[in-house]
Amino acid sequence: MVFDVFPHVYPPQTDSFLLLKHLETKNSDTVLELGVGCGLLALCLAKKAKAVVGIDTNPYSVKNALHNASLNGIENVHFINGDLYEPVCQRRFDLIYANPPYVPTPPNWIETDIIESAWNAGANGREILDRILANAKDYLKANGRIVLVQSSLADIDKTMATLEHNGFCVRVLAEEKERLGPISMGRYGWLERQGVLGGDFYERLVVVEGKIENGQEAESSWPKNQSVML
Ligand SMILES: C[S@@+](CC[C@H](N)C(=O)[O-])C[C@H]1O[C@@H](n2cnc3c(N)ncnc32)[C@H](O)[C@@H]1O
Repeated sequence: MVFDVFPHVYPPQTDSFLLLKHLETKNSDTVLELGVGCGLLALCLAKKAKAVVGIDTNPYSVKNALHNASLNGIENVHFINGDLYEPVCQRRFDLIYANPPYVPTPPNWIETDIIESAWNAGANGREILDRILANAKDYLKANGRIVLVQSSLADIDKTMATLEHNGFCVRVLAEEKERLGPISMGRYGWLERQGVLGGDFYERLVVVEGKIENGQEAESSWPKNQSVML
């Protein structure tokens, strides 16, 4: 496969490639990717899955992902410009994948380019992560799974505890120790004062999987008669 990366779009990096190594889908699966960037993960998933929906708030990402779909002749994928689950309200998927923004960001930070929304994630790095986790059960079918990658800068234990609390069976699929990237290095002093660094120049990247326990569709907060199954 061939991928172009447009200006203002997150170029696939270590976190993307770590998640890429742990994509696992069946040809009957419908898959949702939250935050597609240039479309790398969604398009690799679409090679095997029945259908993939990819969402991104950055319109440049959506254009880029559509371009890469056409470059690779992939048609079972649908890219939408929007905020997390909002464009797929009341649909359920077999799988949700995400490499969300997770870099803790000083309060009052002013973004100078839309690409920064690929990593800026509020003071604790969990602004998007927490929203993804809070609603995941409403968008998964019975036996559905959510798989996401994040850094130790954004409290991995909280991700695992939240998934467990929401009825998921949780496991770590992969873990890598990485040197801090340029964005985190640029915030080193501030991150140190937040107490999220381990006293060195490294972070842990972890791929976490949450699977709905007991094969039961997770209890939904939607009114029952409005649920639409894919
Ligand atoms: C770290 S990048 C990952 C891109 C790609 N999935 C990859 O792994 O290379 C995070 C992506 O999430 C998108 N994003 C940030 N906030 C979002 C939101 N609220 N809803 C949807 N996408 C969002 C960003 O624009 C960016 O493309």
